[in-house]
Amino acid sequence: MSNSQIRLYYKNVMADVLGDEHGITDEQLKDLAQKTSPVIKQLNEERKQGQTPYRDLPYNQQMVEQVKELATQVRDGCEYLVVLGIGGSALGNIALQTALNPYMYNLDKAQRQGPRLFVFDNVDPVQLSSFLDLISDKLDKTIFNVISKSGRTAETASQFLIIRKMLLDRLGADGLREHVIATTDTQHGTLRKIATDAQFRCLEVPDGVGGRFSVLSHVGLFSACMCGIDVDSLMAGASDMDKRVGNEDFYQNPAAINAAVNHHYYERGKRISVMMPYYYGLKDFADWYRQLWAESLGKSKDLAGNEVYVGPTPVKALGTTDQHSQVQLYREGPNDKLFTFLEVNRFEKDLTIGPAPDCAAELSFLSGAKLSTLLKNEKKATEYALIQSKRPCLTVEFETVDAYSIGQFIYLFEVTTSFAGALFGINTYDQPAVELGKEATFALMGREGFEELARQIEPLSEIDSDFVV
Ligand code: PA5
Repeated sequence: MSNSQIRLYYKNVMADVLGDEHGITDEQLKDLAQKTSPVIKQLNEERKQGQTPYRDLPYNQQMVEQVKELATQVRDGCEYLVVLGIGGSALGNIALQTALNPYMYNLDKAQRQGPRLFVFDNVDPVQLSSFLDLISDKLDKTIFNVISKSGRTAETASQFLIIRKMLLDRLGADGLREHVIATTDTQHGTLRKIATDAQFRCLEVPDGVGGRFSVLSHVGLFSACMCGIDVDSLMAGASDMDKRVGNEDFYQNPAAINAAVNHHYYERGKRISVMMPYYYGLKDFADWYRQLWAESLGKSKDLAGNEVYVGPTPVKALGTTDQHSQVQLYREGPNDKLFTFLEVNRFEKDLTIGPAPDCAAELSFLSGAKLSTLLKNEKKATEYALIQSKRPCLTVEFETVDAYSIGQFIYLFEVTTSFAGALFGINTYDQPAVELGKEATFALMGREGFEELARQIEPLSEIDSDFVV
C-alpha cells in the first residue's frame, strides 16, 4: 500500500480490545463480511448500470477541463470569489478550502494563490450585510458563483436576488452577466432559466448526482480550482479510492468495513456517530460528513415502503478543542456512540515548543517537542481513555493532508454512505424531509400554489400564551 493512501484502522472496535459486550467478536466480523459481501456486488452492479453517477465523477476529464478553462477566463482581476449555496451546494466548497488552503488564506496575500473565498450558506441578514459592506466598492473585482441544483432553494435564491439587484444597480446588465457564474441542473429549474435569460456563464450539477454527492463535480471543483487547489490530484485520489471500494473482498474494502461496523453498532444501540479530526484543516470535512450521513441515512421508510425510522446521528467534534468540551460525556455518559478519529501522520508545517521558564520547570516536559507530536499524542490519549471505557473507535489515518488524500477521503465516505444505505435497506439518495421544509418556507413566504400548506402551518404561528413563561 502506497504511503499516500489513507487507511482505515478498525482494531479498536474489536472484542479483543473492548470485550464481548461492546466489541465485535471474530464471529461477528465474519457475519458482517457475509452480510456485506452481496452488498458490495450489488453496488458494483448498480454503478455499472449507471444508477450511481457520482461514482464516475473522478474520471470525468471534460468536467475538470471546463472548470480550469473558466477559472483561467475569470481569475484575472478577481479578488473575491463568493459562493452562494446551501447544503450540498456549499459544504464541500468550504471543506476543500479549509483542508487544502492555509488558515490565513483570506487575510494574507502571501498565503494565497487565488481570490479570497467566501461561502454563504445562510440567510442571516447581519452576516450578509457585513460582507456586502466590505465588498460594496469592490464589485468589479468580485465573482459570484451561485450554486443550486434545483434552483428553487429559498436561501440561495434570495441571496442571489440581493446580489443581482446590487450588481444591476452598480454595474448594469453587462456587469451582472460578467460577475455571476451559475452552477445548476444541466437543463431544468429556475436558476437554469435565469442563467439562460441573463446569459450567465454556466457550470453544471451532473444529472443524477445529488447535492451531498456533488463535491467532485463543477459544484466543488470551480471554487477549489480558482483558489489554487490541485483538482487533478483530488480526482486522482478519488479514482484511486474507487479501486479499493469496489473490491469484492470485504476484508480489503475500507468502505464496506466502515459501513458494516457503523451498521453493526447502530443495531446494538450505539446510534451516534462522532467524527473527530485531530487536524484543524479537516474540521469542515466533519461538517460535510454530517450532512452526507444525516441526509442520506435518516429515513422513515425502507425500500419496500415499511416504516423504519432509521439513521445514525452524526456528530462533529474537533481534537483537541472538544476534549475540553465533549470527552467527559463521551467517556462517562451513555455508551451509545461510535467514534471515528481522523489522524494525520505528517504535517506540512510544524512548530517546536519553547523552553519553560525557571519558575515553571514542571512545563519542561513539553519543551523541545513538536506541536504535531503533542496533537498526535492527544489523539492517542483520548482514544486510550475511550477504550478504557469500552467505547468503540475507528481511525482514518492520513499520511498527509493534500489534494490526493482528500480525494480519497471524499470518495471513501461517499461510498461508505452508499453501503450503509444498502445495509439499512433505505433510499440513500433522496431527502423528502428536506423538501417538505423547503415547501413550508415557500408557503410561509406567500408563494403561489402553496396556499393550502400555508393554512396548515398557520396555527403554529399563533403563540399560545398559556405556555409562555
Ligand atoms: O444534498 C442535497 O441534496 C441538499 O443538501 C441540497 O444540496 C440543498 O438542499 C441545496 O439544494 P439546491 O442545490 O437544489 O439549492
